[in-house]
Amino acid sequence: MSEILLSVDHLTKRFGGVTAVNECSFQVQTGTITALIGPNGSGKTTVFNMVTGYLKADSGSITFKGEPIMRPRPADLYRRGLSRTFQQARIFPDLTVLENLVVAAGYSWKQLFGKRVTADDNARAHRMLEEFRLEQLADLPSGELSYGQRKLLEFAAVLMSEPSLVLLDEPTAGVNPVMIDTMERHVRERHANGVTFLIVEHDMQLVMRLCDPVIVLDRGAPIAFGTPAAIQSDPLVLEAYLGG
Ligand SMILES: Nc1ncnc2c1ncn2[C@@H]1O[C@H](COP(=O)(O)OP(=O)(O)OP(=O)(O)O)[C@@H](O)[C@H]1O
Ligand SMILES: [Mg+2]
Repeated sequence: MSEILLSVDHLTKRFGGVTAVNECSFQVQTGTITALIGPNGSGKTTVFNMVTGYLKADSGSITFKGEPIMRPRPADLYRRGLSRTFQQARIFPDLTVLENLVVAAGYSWKQLFGKRVTADDNARAHRMLEEFRLEQLADLPSGELSYGQRKLLEFAAVLMSEPSLVLLDEPTAGVNPVMIDTMERHVRERHANGVTFLIVEHDMQLVMRLCDPVIVLDRGAPIAFGTPAAIQSDPLVLEAYLGG
């Protein structure tokens, strides 16, 4: 039986005269890889920002694991199992690759540099590096990574919190084809291990292979919801993308 992991109800956000998100409602079922797609400026990132506590909604409500998240704080949500990546990867460039993973496990920089990281968490960070084939880069300052490697590291870091729901904002934008395959493989592996995903992605081929269902936003509200095949032939969706 499917159950609802995340529910967004009549969410609205205005920036001055622009209504970025407009009475937006949708749900994410446990165990899915759900896509959130839509033309540029349709409100996808703004939805992510509200769901993850980086922006306060003007109105509407959000429920995660059956509990309302009112004025959520990103760090609290992270501990409760909801984590995300950013359209522009956010990592700490001065920390090494390994240190970024340790900090993502919930340690402060003070604890990190005071060598108060448990052997368990250290081992977990190393296993994550292995899983992501980043071991050779463990001691490199993260600022020296390529763009694609940063995105990969950010994804690995998010997984250190052992999340139940991961929101990825354009995980493959601007990364090379090999890295896109790598990203896809990691999403599939984690999904097989029980993680639910909500993914904003412009690469339609990837969405069609990887995601089900697909939610289509246009001007801040969903206009279509369904399987990738159904979405592809939906006239409203074609119009939203082509109509400009
Ligand atoms: N902080 C902000 N201040 C003012 N306007 C904003 C802000 N953030 C977003 N907007 C506006 O809100 C609308 C939705 O933007 P948003 O970034 O959510 O779209 P998006 O679907 O993620 O687009 P993209 O595919 O280009 O990433 C746009 O018109 C954008 O210009
Ligand atoms: Mg965006």
